[in-house]
Amino acid sequence: MLEKGLTRRDVLTKAVPAAAIAGVGLGALAQQTRPQGQQIPPAGATPAAPGQVMKTMAGQMYGDGQYQLPPLPYPANALEPFISAQVLQVHHDAHHMAAVKGLNEAVTKLSDVIKSGSYEQVQLDGLMRDISYNGGSHMLHSLYWTTLAPPAGPQNLPSGAIAEAIDSQFGSFDQFKAFFSHVAVAAKGSGWALLTYEPISDGLAVFQVGDHDMRIVAGMRPILVLDVWEHAYYLQYQNKRADYINAWWNIVNWPAVTDLLTFFRQRNQ
Ligand SMILES: [Fe+2]
Repeated sequence: MLEKGLTRRDVLTKAVPAAAIAGVGLGALAQQTRPQGQQIPPAGATPAAPGQVMKTMAGQMYGDGQYQLPPLPYPANALEPFISAQVLQVHHDAHHMAAVKGLNEAVTKLSDVIKSGSYEQVQLDGLMRDISYNGGSHMLHSLYWTTLAPPAGPQNLPSGAIAEAIDSQFGSFDQFKAFFSHVAVAAKGSGWALLTYEPISDGLAVFQVGDHDMRIVAGMRPILVLDVWEHAYYLQYQNKRADYINAWWNIVNWPAVTDLLTFFRQRNQ
């Protein structure tokens, strides 16, 4: 049980700075009401209202005082042949679900520690690690589903604000694509490649993240994430991670990425 007046969101946003990995407390937007039936727009679509993608996603990640597994925004076979239904189902239902469960358990334990007033360092270290790891996993996996969509056509390229920001930061989309792909391929063991909004310079940055939370600068706002844990591709691509990454570019939901950029820019003004 949580201390009276202390919600899970409070525990994360007040007690655990590492949980600010996405630039918002994990539950900070979740209390906002999401219109029922509202879907994350497919590739090529324009979001109904600027900044809505993050609000919709957050509303699905947290509810009734618990972190929760957001539904896939498309059928499990919608990303075939690039990602198989089997891979997507196992990834979402088993791996992401485990992170949600681990996060809720760790947050509950932390709230008990706060109430007790007895702070055993070994226990705290473990809880902080669990929350960072599982909170990062919940956030990044939710972004992963959100920033994918059925193929928009033979050419799946960004446009508008995100295209301009990529050109400005990396020289061209092709240069960005080559660099981001290399960062993802080269990640040792389990990790992610992230394109993030950098609020201080109003620019973009790419990070290679270990596990779900290592080596990202606090304050970065992920807007495009690529999971290169083996569970994301091994059943379909075996050890050919580069083939999975090449396929992944075909199903990036650029309108959603653009909307995430818009959301964080609006928050930064
Ligand atoms: Fe994953």
